Amino acid sequence: MSVKRVAILASGGDGPGMNACLRACVRTAHSLGIKPIGVLRGFDGLLKRDFFDFETRSVANIIQRGGTVLMSSRSKDFMLPEQRAAAFLNLRSLGVDGLIGMGGDGTMRGLEALFNEHGLAICGVPASIDNDLTGTDYSIGFDTAVNTALEMVDKLRDTISSFERVMLVEVMGRSCGEIALHVALAAGAEGLILPGNDGPYDGLIERVNQSHEKGKNSHIIVVAEGGRAGRSNDIAKALEKHIKIPVRVCTFGHVQRGGNPTADDRILASRLGEAAMRALFDGQKGVMVGEVNHAMVIQPLSHCVSRVLADSDRPLIQLTELLAT
Ligand code: F6P
Repeated sequence: MSVKRVAILASGGDGPGMNACLRACVRTAHSLGIKPIGVLRGFDGLLKRDFFDFETRSVANIIQRGGTVLMSSRSKDFMLPEQRAAAFLNLRSLGVDGLIGMGGDGTMRGLEALFNEHGLAICGVPASIDNDLTGTDYSIGFDTAVNTALEMVDKLRDTISSFERVMLVEVMGRSCGEIALHVALAAGAEGLILPGNDGPYDGLIERVNQSHEKGKNSHIIVVAEGGRAGRSNDIAKALEKHIKIPVRVCTFGHVQRGGNPTADDRILASRLGEAAMRALFDGQKGVMVGEVNHAMVIQPLSHCVSRVLADSDRPLIQLTELLAT
């Protein structure tokens, strides 16, 4: 049986492209005869009945905007089964029979719990700059975050070349090194420190000292925050003792989550939003849409939350190491 009223929310860390996804969900809903309902502030909004109706025009002029017009939250309350039961009743009281949730692994776990406990027709959309979800090659926001960080690394390269310095640049990604890996490769970085690499850094130190002696005047080392934002300050202290040129640190932080989405993110978000609404229309339940090998795929939420991708899953690592001399 197809859905008639579908609520849409964003949860967890926002990602540029969430608005493009929302626009696609709402416009697809209208074309399929489904009534789209907006939920403000993520899972907290489900508990507080922060709902509103969407008209087709209410998503005009948002495809280019970063952040999320739905606003987001990291809801602690929603982790409790009794609160999820209350959220389910709130949805039912409005006649809502479907839910689309945009977010990362925490959001997918919340959606899966709601689905397992109450059987609501639910579809998750991967939206997180971290790009650490199983079930999709890319999540919404990742491409923009990489390009934002890359632009800043290019600027840093200018200034450190003038001073023959080493610059540690710390990028986001929680416990996943995907942003760091892509930024390092695209920036031509001389070093990459992934999550879990807590030293010793002998190989890196030797390489920097040797290439400095050969005349290289700038060294960029990309550091993944690795679940401990600010760790690059400790790493800098460890390196400073052995590297012959000055070391500086630049932590990019939340600026990576903002800004206008890239074309790739807008297109991915539009495709995923359309696919999510259509999946519910087609009677899917407890699933996440994703893009695998350029095709839209639908997989059970249980599979998508089963593991967060590890750095060893990433073939780019070898290329990054090969080119960093
Ligand atoms: O999950 C997205 C993310 O930006 C991570 O990369 C980062 O570790 C975390 O969120 C920061 O969370 P908050 O915005 O709650 O400080």
